[in-house]
Amino acid sequence: MTNRLIDLDKVGMTYRAASGPVEALAGISLSVGAGEFVSLVGPSGCGKSTLLRIVAGLRPATVGTVTVASRTVTQPIPDIGMVFQAPILLKWRTILENVLLPAELAAKDAGALRGRAIELLEMAGLHGFAGKLPHELSGGMQQRASLCRALLLDPPLLLMDEPFGALDAMTRDDMALELLRIWGERDLAREARKTVLFVTHSITEAIFLSDRVVVMSPRPGRIAADLRVDLPRPRTVELRASEAFGRLNLEIFRTLTGRTAGTTAQ
Ligand SMILES: Nc1ncnc2c1ncn2[C@@H]1O[C@H](COP(=O)(O)OP(=O)(O)OP(=O)(O)O)[C@@H](O)[C@H]1O
Ligand SMILES: [Mg+2]
Repeated sequence: MTNRLIDLDKVGMTYRAASGPVEALAGISLSVGAGEFVSLVGPSGCGKSTLLRIVAGLRPATVGTVTVASRTVTQPIPDIGMVFQAPILLKWRTILENVLLPAELAAKDAGALRGRAIELLEMAGLHGFAGKLPHELSGGMQQRASLCRALLLDPPLLLMDEPFGALDAMTRDDMALELLRIWGERDLAREARKTVLFVTHSITEAIFLSDRVVVMSPRPGRIAADLRVDLPRPRTVELRASEAFGRLNLEIFRTLTGRTAGTTAQ
């Protein structure tokens, strides 16, 4: 692996809920190299969102250590773009003002970044909605706006929690290709690319985008498989019809469901 950017060492997380402890993650050891695109797939409730929040420093792990860019994570880390599972837009601010929020929070000149914000909104097919309030947009459009917000400051690390979950299949494919472009698949050397940790429920999407797909077990989430995607880049939609893609798809499906060869769908 190239330079490691994210290192999780035997990370575990137990929530102290009113009804008793909930063990969300157990024994997670995972490294992500700088410039790598890694997807996490796993059943609902296996701790994927929890894992992203721990990497971002938004929540401490109960046990184990988390290192990002050679620093132990003890508080929210700067220079990341985070896309949450829900869009979380401020309802009293326009879409453009929401996208510009990270500039204000980082005390950067929002005026200077307006052009970039508008460019990102165009990329996401939201050019006509810059002046609208969040409630005037559909759920999928709000999610695209929150993706623009995460990309505004061009962060080297992107943590994305089902960013395309609310999109229709065609928009979803377009956004996946756009994300690969922004990542620098075509024109940047590996080290110059962003590092991406991407949560999805779609096996196809995970394979299509990633260098590695990490499959998690049901709660408490553990790593059930860590599979390298040896498909050529830049990725094309035709690749999805290839034998290698199909094999990997089946392997991930089997790991997720525990089904073995020859199982019928009854
Ligand atoms: N704040 C919390 N307090 C108590 N339990 C929590 C809290 N957040 C999550 N959990 C529990 O921890 C487990 C993991 O939750 P998490 O949201 O990380 O799962 P997930 O893999 O992201 O699921 P999904 O695919 O449905 O988004 C679940 O059992 C959930 O009920
Ligand atoms: Mg989640």
